[in-house]
Order: sequence, then C-alpha cells, then structure tokens
Amino acid sequence: MTKLTLEAARTEHTALAAEIAEHDRRYYREDQPAISDAAYDALRKRLLDLEDAFPELIDADSPSQRIGAAPSETFSKVRHRVPMLSLSNAFSDEDVTDFLARVRRFLNLKEDAEVEFTAEPKIDGLSISLRYEKGGLVQAATRGDGAEGENVTANARTIKNIPHRLSGKTPEVLEVRGEIYMSHKDFAALNEKQSQAGEKVFANPRNAAAGSLRQLDASITASRPLRFFAYTWGEAPDLDGDTQWDVVQRFKAMGFPVNPLMTVCRTTDQLVAHYRKIEEQRAQLGYDIDGVVYKVNRLDWQERLGFVSRSPRWAIAHKFAAEKATTVLEGIDIQVGRTGALTPVARLKPVTVGGVVVSNATLHNEDEIARKDIRIGDTVIVQRAGDVIPQILGFVAEKRPKSAKPYEFPKFCPACGSHAEREDRGSGKTDAVRRCTGGLICPAQRVERLKHFVSRNAFDIEGFGDKIVEEFYADGLIQSPQDIFTLEARDQRALKKLKDREGWGVSSATNLFEAIAARKNVALDRFIFALGIRHVGETTARVLARSYGSAEALRDQITAASDMAGDAWTELNAIDGIGTIVAEAIVQFFGEQHNIEVFNALLAHVSPAPLEAVNTASPVAGKTVVFTGALERMTREEAKAMAERLGAKVAGSVSKKTDLLVAGPGAGSKLKDAQKHGVEVIDEAEWFRRIGD
Ligand code: IVH
Repeated sequence: MTKLTLEAARTEHTALAAEIAEHDRRYYREDQPAISDAAYDALRKRLLDLEDAFPELIDADSPSQRIGAAPSETFSKVRHRVPMLSLSNAFSDEDVTDFLARVRRFLNLKEDAEVEFTAEPKIDGLSISLRYEKGGLVQAATRGDGAEGENVTANARTIKNIPHRLSGKTPEVLEVRGEIYMSHKDFAALNEKQSQAGEKVFANPRNAAAGSLRQLDASITASRPLRFFAYTWGEAPDLDGDTQWDVVQRFKAMGFPVNPLMTVCRTTDQLVAHYRKIEEQRAQLGYDIDGVVYKVNRLDWQERLGFVSRSPRWAIAHKFAAEKATTVLEGIDIQVGRTGALTPVARLKPVTVGGVVVSNATLHNEDEIARKDIRIGDTVIVQRAGDVIPQILGFVAEKRPKSAKPYEFPKFCPACGSHAEREDRGSGKTDAVRRCTGGLICPAQRVERLKHFVSRNAFDIEGFGDKIVEEFYADGLIQSPQDIFTLEARDQRALKKLKDREGWGVSSATNLFEAIAARKNVALDRFIFALGIRHVGETTARVLARSYGSAEALRDQITAASDMAGDAWTELNAIDGIGTIVAEAIVQFFGEQHNIEVFNALLAHVSPAPLEAVNTASPVAGKTVVFTGALERMTREEAKAMAERLGAKVAGSVSKKTDLLVAGPGAGSKLKDAQKHGVEVIDEAEWFRRIGD
C-alpha cells in the first residue's frame, strides 16, 4: 500500500466506489446481486484499506460512509396474492368463551368437543410479508390496506434476524408473515441518539419501527435496530404440517425467529391461564405486546372456518386491559361528522397514557356526558386501549372545582347554525346522537363527506389527506366529490396553479394528479362505500357490489325500489346481510336528486370495476343460492361461506331471481316459494356432488 501514490489510490478508490455502489443498487433495489457476498466483502475491504492509508479519500459519498442504495422516489406497490388480514378482538374472558362456542358451532362440533388452539403474544409492531422463492428472499411488502402494500424489500434485507436464505429443505414458494418491532432498549437508545442529533424522537416503539422500516433510503433502515417474529403465512402451496404449531416449528427450522411464548391449549381455562401468565411477564419481555392471539391449531379446520369480512373466524386477539391516567378536562369541542352527528370531544391537558401523549378523548354523546356528569374543569380518568380512541371513564369527585357547572350540550350546529335534533326512534325513544339538520348546506358535513370519499378504505387517493381536503374546500377548489376528477383540467386553465400553493411544487401537484387518475378504475365496492350512504359500511358495500354487479345497475335497481313495494324492493331486502333499516337508507339516498346528480357526475369520470367472482370456474359461480331446512354436513353459516367462496350469491329468501334452493329436511315456505317461481331445488348431498366435494 505504501508504494501507492495518492493519485493512483484516488483513481482506484473512485473505481471501487462506483463498483460497490452498483452492487449495492443491484442487491438492495433490484434484489439481484451480481457477485458473491465474499467477493463484495473483498471489494469493501480494499476500499477501506485505501481509506486507511489515505484518509483524504474519505468523503460523504464513499461507500464506507453509507450502507445500502440511494433512495428511490416512492415505494412501488405490491399486490398481496393472499390478502393480509386483521384480527377481531376479545376484551373479556366471556368474549373468549363466545369465540370458542362460535368455532364449535361453525364446525358443527358438540359443545364440549375438544378444539386445540395455539396461544402466543400479540406483538405491537407492524406486519410484513416476506416472499421466498427457491429458498431466497425475493420480496418484502408491508400490509398496506391488506390487498396492496408497499415494496420494502431493500429495507427488510437490512434487518438482521430476517434470513436472506432459508435453511434445510426449502419449498418453491413461501410467503412468511410476521411482525417487525423494536425492543424497549433499542427504542430508548434510538430516541437518545435522535434527540442528540436534533432529529425527530418517536412516541413509542411501534412508531419507531414503522418509521424506520418505511425509509426510502434503506441505509437508514439498516442503521435502526429492527427485529422480526414469524407467526403466519400467505401464499404457501407446499406447506409442511397439519397444524399451526407444526408450521411455526418448520419456520423455526428454516431460520426464522419465532416467539418463545407460543403454546398449545385445549380449554378456555388453559387459554385464559396462558393469557394471565403472559400478562404477568409483559413488563419484563423487553418489547411491546398488546394481547394474546389464539388460533385454531388444525389447518383443515382453519380452512373450513375461513374469513368474515377482514378477519379469520379461526383466530382472535385477546387484548390486555387498557391503560389509565388522570388529567384536567380543559374544554369540550363539538365535531360535526359526515352524517351530521355532533360528537363531543374532550380537550385535555396533555397526559401520557401507556407511552402515548393524549390530548383528546371521545365523550361519545350528550347522554353519556350527562350520565357521567362530566364537567369542564374536572379532573377526569382517561383510558387508552390499543389503537382505539381514548375514552373518559369518569371524574375524580374530590378534585371538582366549586365553579364547575353541568355541561349543556349545544342545540345548534356549531358549523352552520342549523337546528341540531335527536331523531325519534319510535315508542318514546330518541336517538342518542344529536344531528345537524343542515344537510348539504352544512360545510362541516360536506367536508367530512369529502374526507370519507378519498379515505383509505374508500377511493384511497394517495396523498389526499384530511388537511388537503379542508384547504381545497375552503378555497373553493373542491366542493363535491366529482370536482376531484376535474381538478387537473381546471388547474391547467387556472391562473394560480396547484404547484404555486404554499408548501406545494411541481412534483407534489403532479403526484396528486397521478394519484387521482390512478383511481379511475376503483373497485365497485370501494366506490359504493365512498358514497357515504348511511348504514352502508365496507361489508354492506361489498354485498351490494356483488349483488348488483355495476354502478349503473345499482342506481337503476335502487331507484326502481323507491316504491318500497315492488320486485326491486323485494330483491334488495332478499340480499343476505341487508335488513330493512339498511334497505331504507339506501333507497333514501338514491331518492335525493342531489345524490343522483353527484353519482352520475362521478360516472362521467370514473369507471368502477366490478368485483371479480371469487371462483369463476366453479359450477355455482354467479348463481343466487338459498339454503333452507336442516343441513347435516355443515352449519348454515358454513354453507353460506362456502357458496360465497365458490362465487355464488347467497340470498335469505326465494324470489324469481333465485337459481338454486338447497333444501334439507323440514324445509317449509321457501320450498313452496321455489316451486311457485320454478326454482331448481336440490338436497345437501346433491350440492356437494355439484361442487365436486
Ligand atoms: S396472526 C390472519 N399473530 O395483529 C391473521 N397477528 O390485529 C394474521 N399481530 O395485522 C395475523 N402479533 O400485524 C397474528 N402473533 C400474532 C400477531 C399478530 C401481532 C398483528 C398483525 C395483524 C394484527 C391484527
């Protein structure tokens, strides 16, 4: 080395730096390394030796000063081949008993039949899906909305306990899923470092883990102490094992970290005992957990149980009790929602509850405030559980100021001044919620509807957050949903353009236009959900999308149902999962001229994509099926879930649109209706024969 001149060293250093940068790029960004790890290490060693001998060669761009590749502009999207779901929650032992009973009922098991469950901590981090092909890590994706996540492959590769290559016998394809988290110790050290460097400190380990993983520059992720636990899987065609337990043991053998506190339980008592044991150890674990997850151990049973909406029927998260703190209630703000509901929100003196600073909490409604006799100035007890909005449990009597007066709920909308009323529910009952009667003249309702329209589970327009909606509404840029789709064309003609707004620029304006354009073929169920029809949540929106097939058919059929008597009304009510209140709300929505105008104006710009049939190859795909009478091999619920998996629509009553009635012993009026409408009737055995089981 000493023989080398500075000039020669500089030439070699420049060449080496470029070569290493190219290998980094291939490794971190393209997942296609061109050389072996050993050869790469040799290049880096030579570079470091040169820098040792000639320190003047070190600059900020040298590979020795960074890890990984340069940042890309945004994360690309990854469609999950198997959706990433969430878990439903149990908050009490009774909820757990109910869960077990539901599982047994669905599987048609006796009340005291033994069902094995795994029980393991629920890690409070963020979930990730790791795809391995021929044993090598090829892709990592965040959960995103469950259907589509972000490609964080480069970032995941920097996490030390995620294997790049699987050990032992490896399947062709395997998607291993689990949680990315940060330990308490690492979190404290990171925040210390951040604060000394004058950088952002994180509120809790979960935020720190999420913020560290989702870095466009993977070298930042590499410098953060992230860890991983494997606990489930996505696409896995040749999975080895018959139980949840077996599969997780296989994961362990392949080199994945799995949680040591996982166990198998056979009774509610065992589950709850394990829950208590984990709860006792919670503070000493060294990482955040927020409950215990129970999963049916047998995989064939998991398959039969399937999913409801976005969570599996075969698993539940038994959450730990919420954390509490006391603080002063400084005021009560009234928020106006998209349906006009006035919601009281407690303005609190900021207080830390379970590691998170809380300054707002929900007070639910007028009656709740009166019932708990909460007054401004009170010292109140605040509770926070998981991601749920903090709640006010009550006040501390000894600390009540003498001057505190009972709270009087406003009778007028704070946004538009219209009367706020409580609906009559019949038989002397009034709705607990007071609503603004201003409808579309109320700016708060209009803004909230717009926020809902662009939100994550609705149109999901990236970068179109609440703040932008508020600003655009205030400036008159967007008043109604259809205005979103004319924004770009209007911008081209406008004198003051989006890019010239404060805090904007060419790229942020272009990104927003692109994000809007990208959603023109939004899925039909999202489109329906985005409309904000009262009582129509995501599940009902999906049911409507499946039943009517297109936006136009929905509009025409619902308009035809406005008489609340004829065929179209009967059809609507026959849809499984749609009761009278929901049916009425839908008809009412389409009965308003303004809503029809917005609907049609939207269809001039967007073409909602019909839902794919779950299984178009099946002989019952697209057919409307009704089940009646006693079934022997399966419960009614399981029959319904199975039919829907095969692409059929399940209705609750027989009409002339029904294709098939599956009738067991004891079938009554539905059988008669079927005969009247000439609907084909088969028995359970024939059903199984047709679907090839
Ligand atoms: S199983 C199909 N097991 O909790 C169900 N999830 O609330 C797959 N989580 O999105 C999830 N620890 O991010 C499972 N031991 C565990 C978990 C766990 C944490 C997270 C996961 C999931 C969320 C659902």
